[in-house]
Amino acid sequence: MFVSVKKIAYLTISAFVLLTSCAYNSEEELYPSSNCETVNMSLSSDITPILDNYSCIGCHDDLSTNGVDLNGYDDLKIWVNNGKLLGSMKHDGTASEMPKGGDKMNQCDIDKVTAWIEQGALNN
Ligand code: HEC
Repeated sequence: MFVSVKKIAYLTISAFVLLTSCAYNSEEELYPSSNCETVNMSLSSDITPILDNYSCIGCHDDLSTNGVDLNGYDDLKIWVNNGKLLGSMKHDGTASEMPKGGDKMNQCDIDKVTAWIEQGALNN
């Protein structure tokens, strides 16, 4: 019946380590996109800033020589309609993975673009 102080200390520390290791899981992993606002997405105030943020337009402006122009609604819409814009962001194997040479976009940004497209990909 005798439980040593050492044992109690060991168990306490183990429990603490276990609990805190859970606490360090990012919120994103535990609750995917829980805080992601995707209602009424607007091209000008939501989507274009995202494309700018990941330098998409930097590599895909009117002068781009890689065959992909994402600058301006009409040009962007071509890549929306053929599914490559979303495919390139989602890394789902249907298009080259973007942003080229960079990390995958964060899930909330991908969700916003997906929502804008589902809401009709309006020039809004
Ligand atoms: C450093 C330059 C660079 C950046 C930044 C970049 N791209 Fe690209 N992208 C390219 C090049 C080069 C190609 C053509 C070659 C290829 O498909 O890999 C391309 C191709 C594409 C294609 C066509 C894919 C296909 O399979 O036909 C899409 C769509 C695209 N990019 C979207 C994006 C989006 C969205 C972003 C931002 C999240 C982005 N790109 C960021 C250089 C870039």
